[in-house]
Amino acid sequence: MLAATIFIGLACSSLARTSTANLNMSTTTMAQLGCDATCQTYFQAGLAADVEMFGTGFDPGFYSTASNFTGSAAGDLLKFEAIEPNTVNVITGTTAYRFQYTTRDFERHPRPRHRIDRDSIYFVPTQCKFSRGRLCILHHCWSLLIENGYAVVAPDYAGLGNNTTLHQYLSLPAHANNLYYAMVAARKALPHTFISEWMSVGHSQGGGAVWKLLESELVKTYGAGEPLGTVALAPVSRIYDMTVLTAEAVLTASNYASYDITYEALWLPLALKRVTPGIDLSIVSNTFLQCVDIAELAQVCYYSIMPLGYGLRPSEIIRNTSALVNNVPFQAGQDAMAPANGGTLDTPMRIVQGSNDTDILPQISVRSFNASCLSGNEVHMSVYADMDHTDVLKASSPEWLGFIRDRFERKSTSGRCSVVQHASLDRAHLGTEAESSEDTSL
Ligand SMILES: *[C@@H]1O[C@H](CO)[C@@H](O)[C@H](O)[C@H]1NC(C)=O
Ligand SMILES: *[C@@H]1O[C@H](CO)[C@@H](O)[C@H](O)[C@H]1NC(C)=O
Ligand SMILES: *[C@@H]1O[C@H](CO)[C@@H](O)[C@H](O)[C@H]1NC(C)=O
Ligand SMILES: *[C@@H]1O[C@H](CO)[C@@H](O)[C@H](O)[C@H]1NC(C)=O
Ligand SMILES: *[C@@H]1O[C@H](CO)[C@@H](O)[C@H](O)[C@H]1NC(C)=O
Ligand SMILES: *[C@@H]1O[C@H](CO)[C@@H](O)[C@H](O)[C@H]1NC(C)=O
Ligand SMILES: *[C@@H]1O[C@H](CO)[C@@H](O)[C@H](O)[C@H]1NC(C)=O
Repeated sequence: MLAATIFIGLACSSLARTSTANLNMSTTTMAQLGCDATCQTYFQAGLAADVEMFGTGFDPGFYSTASNFTGSAAGDLLKFEAIEPNTVNVITGTTAYRFQYTTRDFERHPRPRHRIDRDSIYFVPTQCKFSRGRLCILHHCWSLLIENGYAVVAPDYAGLGNNTTLHQYLSLPAHANNLYYAMVAARKALPHTFISEWMSVGHSQGGGAVWKLLESELVKTYGAGEPLGTVALAPVSRIYDMTVLTAEAVLTASNYASYDITYEALWLPLALKRVTPGIDLSIVSNTFLQCVDIAELAQVCYYSIMPLGYGLRPSEIIRNTSALVNNVPFQAGQDAMAPANGGTLDTPMRIVQGSNDTDILPQISVRSFNASCLSGNEVHMSVYADMDHTDVLKASSPEWLGFIRDRFERKSTSGRCSVVQHASLDRAHLGTEAESSEDTSL
């Protein structure tokens, strides 16, 4: 596809290291917020796992807003620089850049405000500011693409990479805007590098973002080139539905503590607050909200939020299921954010889901798949037995890399939806990785 593989990312600067994420907390503050000695031990282990995965470096110079941001338009390039090859973990022959560009805010209300925000683009998660950071959190997601010869443009989630603005967690239309305008800006930076066709791949929150991107009116203008299709790996879709399912089917089961969603739920109040400021959060308990306060104060990236929820009883998580079921603002938020809510896709999509995913519950992915098919879209669903949220990405890679290759080769498709179930060859001897390093360290 290209003579040279380009990897756009961000190096961890050895000169400027200022902590902006995974901040340590005093024992006093932790205790005041209900995190006892055991909780603090777990939290420390989570912080260590986060630091290992996301690093500590933050380069305020690069992330400061470019002086020519004022007056720029969405898709304009503001900063562009090469990354020292020895500072990123990539295969030989890879070139990496980082850049800052102008994007557009997502507006929930029909009256557009035409506000332009800035954001940066990166690929290595060292600048994690309160989030999982990337559209593909896992190294093997983008490395698989690079090893297969693709150029990769990998923007931040909306709101990241700046020490002031907050991550618009789960705001899929905002992330879709970033994806689109990052591609427009990348083409300006390297006009001879990219061919006109492109595809998008995302995992988890990133899976929801690419799905929403391909449904957006923006891509249909071809302003970023011609889209050929998309791959959504264990994608985020209907958050409200998933919360209701968690309350009704996970938290009521004896093994609720073995579900990642039990702890991931701590992100939910943050997402709701940022999307709908002032939203009533009384569906969860005060104990739960105090854990969220710790996460916010410590600006945790990912793993360190989970231990804060260990030991919580189901009633401390969702305190009133009927109030949740009747929560109109939460439902309205889902209607505004979720893909497969009447949206149309001009190109085929593949969804990949692990049947043992305890983070993105398979039933919700199937529900969104069904809804998208009913809207007349061509969606191919692959379900992998025994695979969890992270294992599924690599286990399914022959299939989704093949799907990408076929689209670039312009192979014809059925035009209809399909479902494939992949059974494990030998469950008893199946190699799997722990969902996260904190699972093994605790
Ligand atoms: C974080 O703070 C705790 C309690 O004050 C302390 O025991 C621990 O060593 C600190 N961890 C790091 C990595 O600084
Ligand atoms: C972060 O972004 C906001 C608005 O987008 C801006 O006002 C602020 O100056 C930025 N912070 C830095 C350190 O550049
Ligand atoms: C902003 O300045 C940089 C160089 O500092 C330049 O490459 C870029 O094109 C400028 N962008 C706009 C929108 O003026
Ligand atoms: C980031 O913001 C926090 C408070 O919001 C502040 O304590 C910290 O010094 C800032 N870091 C940088 C690099 O500006
Ligand atoms: C739960 O919420 C419902 C409203 O949906 C309310 O009528 C009921 O009183 C609440 N129950 C408790 C125990 O707070
Ligand atoms: C999806 O659609 C199939 C076929 O119409 C149906 O059997 C299944 O129950 C649906 N699943 C969900 C979760 O909606
Ligand atoms: C996946 O879930 C099924 C059903 O709960 C269980 O029997 C199986 O052992 C799980 N697979 C793995 C690899 O954990």
